[in-house]
Amino acid sequence: MTRHLRSLLDLNADEFERILLLSEKLKREPSAYATKLSGKSLALIFSKSSTRTRVSFEVGIHQLGGQPLFLSAAGSAGLQVSRGETHYDTAKVMSRYVDGLIVRTFHQAHVDSLAEHGSIPVINALTDVCHPCQALADVLTMREKLGGVRGKKLVFVGPGNNVTSSLLLAATRAGFNITCACPDTLPPDPKFFETAQQEAAAAGVEVTVETDPRAAMAGADAIYTDTWVSMGQEELATNLKALLQDYVVNDELMALANPEALFMHCLPAHRGEEVTASVIDSPQSVIFDEAENRLHTQKALLLLLMEAEPWS
Ligand code: CP
Ligand code: NVA
Repeated sequence: MTRHLRSLLDLNADEFERILLLSEKLKREPSAYATKLSGKSLALIFSKSSTRTRVSFEVGIHQLGGQPLFLSAAGSAGLQVSRGETHYDTAKVMSRYVDGLIVRTFHQAHVDSLAEHGSIPVINALTDVCHPCQALADVLTMREKLGGVRGKKLVFVGPGNNVTSSLLLAATRAGFNITCACPDTLPPDPKFFETAQQEAAAAGVEVTVETDPRAAMAGADAIYTDTWVSMGQEELATNLKALLQDYVVNDELMALANPEALFMHCLPAHRGEEVTASVIDSPQSVIFDEAENRLHTQKALLLLLMEAEPWS
């Protein structure tokens, strides 16, 4: 059966753990995996900007001996999907050429359709709904910096968005508590929040929402924020910034968390908006470790989905 990563719903807790363990091995000894994807080609189909995701996937595939093909899905030099070709036909055609698809798009339905109609693994490289590859790297980073994540508490401060949704499902898979400190006008996606709440008891974790970011900080081991204006929301920028003025991660807020709590951000960041420079550039900030870990976790994910390494 062809496996995909459309969202973290495609992984159970054991599989999530398997990816992290393999990521740690790949990080320690990359040369041991240098030919694992030899002869394989993977296409990156991107409709949105990217620095980390694009570069870490392209470099990661190269480091595994495979060939990455970057294909813009926007503009006149882009794929024919930008001119109306269906995702059904695109999935069928691409399955005849390449061995996997890595897709960044505005619509989760595009990822789902490519997975449904093609015969090759499809990886969600960010949609408006979720960002599962980011959450894998974030959990690896927490594990490294906190000495494990079970029982730890992460607080997401800001607008409920695609990154929040994947962190919610990561919490129930990896076993950490999560509080979403979001304004009641910008809550986490109810579908992901309710799923995480339903999974919480069996996972032994707490999944909560708190509108007051100060109240959310008690006992926090990691504070996470993201841009206030996600890609595709540019027209809403003024409104979003007004709604989020009380959600800036600054020194006063960090002081309410555990001493030495991590500061996390998926990047790109906006110093002076969602986070002050004093926090993001402080010794507590692990932003560049998160960015680096995108490479290792995605390489592990690729090897497992491409059946170059066993799931168990
Ligand atoms: N965090 C992240 O996905 O970054 P890019 O948008 O640069 O890929
Ligand atoms: N929420 C952000 C994440 C960027 C990596 C966005 O969708 O633009």
